[in-house]
Amino acid sequence: YKVTWDIDEAKKGGYDHFMIKEIFEQPKAIKDTLMSRIDDSGKINLDNIDIKSEDIKNIEKIYIVACGTAYHAGLVGKALIEKYARIPVLTDIASEFRYNNPFIDEKTLMIVVSQSGETADTLAALRLAKEKKAKVLAVCNVVGSSISREADYVFYTWAGPEIAVASTKAYTTQVVSLALIALYMADMKGTIDEFEYKKVLEEVKVLPEKIEKILESQSNIKSAASYISKSSDIFYIGRGFDYYLAMEGSLKLKEVSYIHSEAMAAGELKHGTLALIEENTPVLALATQDFLYDKMISNIKEVKARGAYTIALAKEGNTEIKGVADFIIYIPSAIDELTAPLAVIPLQLLAYYVATERGCDVDKPRNLAKSVTVE
Ligand code: G6P
Repeated sequence: YKVTWDIDEAKKGGYDHFMIKEIFEQPKAIKDTLMSRIDDSGKINLDNIDIKSEDIKNIEKIYIVACGTAYHAGLVGKALIEKYARIPVLTDIASEFRYNNPFIDEKTLMIVVSQSGETADTLAALRLAKEKKAKVLAVCNVVGSSISREADYVFYTWAGPEIAVASTKAYTTQVVSLALIALYMADMKGTIDEFEYKKVLEEVKVLPEKIEKILESQSNIKSAASYISKSSDIFYIGRGFDYYLAMEGSLKLKEVSYIHSEAMAAGELKHGTLALIEENTPVLALATQDFLYDKMISNIKEVKARGAYTIALAKEGNTEIKGVADFIIYIPSAIDELTAPLAVIPLQLLAYYVATERGCDVDKPRNLAKSVTVE
């Protein structure tokens, strides 16, 4: 009797692919990232990063630089830091930043975000910033990687090894890490009051439970996936945090399913992209932001009037959208600033189900590499 087994199959722990395994690992990955960062008094503790409150007070601006999914997490980080710590944040793609003659000096903090810590463009951007005397904080998942060794400060995302090329648990842990960094800076600078600080931190702490809930109730995502899998184009639209989320959702889908996809700021549609909406074109409308909800409803109507098949993503309890969009995916309620790590879960699942339905090589998409160590 001969037992045949394959080490890769064993590592998948019963899941069909690494991507789906890693999607389901997100509650734990976030818990691990939060652990030891919040002390008994309910305060964020970044002692081991050794970034002094004086250094934070002296920062005039921040650059967040990264590639791919890490860049999308960086955009959410920008919005969080600007909102809570009131420091201007410029975001750039590492391969652009390097050649754009950026404004860096001793009063600039650069935050690089990288799962692998080995992305060539991100590493080069870090070196450029250091040459110009800026301090560099890396949000990184791999201990001992080049980026973690060369940065002045490292905030590790404890996501564990990410094998699938399409990044999932790295993204959510990066967003959570940037939320902690934003709150920490806000506290140091005195730009947030005690009540709000506690409230936001409480919301961060319950993210794993809420993600767990989304993962348990994912069955209707498969029917949306089945519709999309027959399409040749799809548009993701959103405003504010939802626009950044749209970019990540769109990237995930194109990476693994090879369907052409574009993310648009919903208010910008009418300046060109609306011309591409035809009968049955799928449009994924992200409507998780309370203060932009009415605007999104109008945008959904706008594309529907041109024949689009609309799939909306909204917070539980938002019933008005039911009469407007063709298909609704609900996420548990949360403050507007923290919907990204929740709403990304259905978008990841959607990309995964579309890709498997189309028979794509989900874990190793054509032409792509997990870590791009060449320029
Ligand atoms: C590659 C991967 C992406 C990833 C990007 C940045 O393109 O396929 O999933 O987002 O690199 O990688 P990093 O390791 O720097 O986060």
